[in-house]
Formats: sequence, structure tokens, C-alpha cells
Amino acid sequence: MRQAGRIAAAARALAGKMAVPGATTQEIDKAVESFIRSKHAYPTFLGYNDYPASVCVSVNEVVIHGIPGKYVIKDGDIVSIDVGATYDGFVGDCAATFIAGNAKNDEARKLLSVTRQSFYEGIKYARPGYRISDIGHAVQEYVEVNGFSVIRDYVGHGVGAVMHEEPEIPNYGIAGHGARIVRGMTLAVEPMVAAGDWPVRTLRDGWTVVTKDGSMAAHYENSILVTDGEPEILTVPEPEV
Ligand code: MF3
Ligand code: CO
Repeated sequence: MRQAGRIAAAARALAGKMAVPGATTQEIDKAVESFIRSKHAYPTFLGYNDYPASVCVSVNEVVIHGIPGKYVIKDGDIVSIDVGATYDGFVGDCAATFIAGNAKNDEARKLLSVTRQSFYEGIKYARPGYRISDIGHAVQEYVEVNGFSVIRDYVGHGVGAVMHEEPEIPNYGIAGHGARIVRGMTLAVEPMVAAGDWPVRTLRDGWTVVTKDGSMAAHYENSILVTDGEPEILTVPEPEV
């Protein structure tokens, strides 16, 4: 899980560096696929439920599952990258949102930082003694205090030999419910946050999920290991610059 996580995180960082004005989303996909294969891993998403690419690239009002293609990234776009790597039978799954070029406004920057921090607020509860819903409760609290909303239709998940395992990990809800958290669990915690309201719809390609109100959305995900103390992040993020 550590090795898979390291490859997935490096793929995320590579994709983030490539998310600049003038690049196409397809170029990012191809580079990430080559990178993952060069590490003797497999891009987990490719062919998963017939998904046609190795990365999800979700721009602006696209929340998740954007399919890479001919779209040319523009200055100020917010670009969510979601990527998985399967190595030696185990999966690392992670995501992050990047700003291409110069941010259009402070709200875009705030949306990214609130979304990332909401993950860290959530995983404060990813330790023995808490239950699964404590994570989402903390995510929701932090996101809403900051004036944004949490996507309800998609959730985090257990991760291991396959990408989606039990339990489901919603990013909202009341505390104190769901499975008890125990040492050794590996979880993918992934807040998806809209600057406006949370309802979403899927485009006719069957994948692309957008906010109904057209507001920008961000995503931040790491695969983590529950320990006796603080969780260990398996998809170790690159330091912020
Ligand atoms: N990374 C997503 C998740 O966290 C899954 C991507 S869907 C796929 O659950 F089909 F593209 F793989
Ligand atoms: Co995931």
C-alpha cells in the first residue's frame, strides 16, 4: 500500500505540474499513464467500469470524473486531478485541485485551501475510538463554516486490493455512526467541495459530474492507514509551494 501510494502521489504531482495554460487534458493523461507504467504499476482507473483514461481531469465546475481530451487549459482554470496506481496487487488513490497560471479571484484560492484543509480536519478522527461518520462530520463542519458546500452524491471509501472497498465514507452527516475505526484500516478520504450549492448532475458522456449551479468545485484525496496514533498518509503529498 505504501509503494502504490507513493507512485499515485508522484503521478498526482506530475499531473499538477502539467496543468498549465496551453496544455491539453489528454497530454496530462498520456504523461501520467507512461509515468505509472514506468514504475511497473498499472493506472487503476483505466478500464475501471469502462472508464477510458488513466486520470480524471475535472476543470472548473466539473467536480469529478472529467475525461481527458482535447480541452486546452486556460489561465485561471481550477484543475482537479484524480489518479490511482495499482502496484503488486494494491491500490493507491489520490486527488488534488490545482490552479493553472494565475487565480481568477480569491474565492478560487480559498476553495482549494478549504477543500485541502477539510481533509485534514476529517482525518483527525481516523483513529481508534472514533467511527466512520466522525470523519465526514468534521469535513462538513469545516467546509460549511467557510461558506462552501460538500458534495453529497459521491463519497470516500475503503481502499486496498481493489480501489473501492467498504466502508463508504461520506463527507457529511452526524457524528458517532458507522463502523468503528480500527488500526490497520486503509481508507481513501476525499472531500469534494462546491463554491456554490452541492447538487450535481452527470453529463451525457456518462462520467463528467458538474455542479448544477455551475459553481466551481474542488477535490482533495489521500489514501491513509489507520494506526494507534495519527493516521499515516500513504499517498504522501508534495510540499505546497
Ligand atoms: N478516484 C475515484 C475515487 O476516488 C475513482 C475514479 S473513477 C474511475 O473513487 F472510473 F475513473 F476510475
Ligand atoms: Co477515491
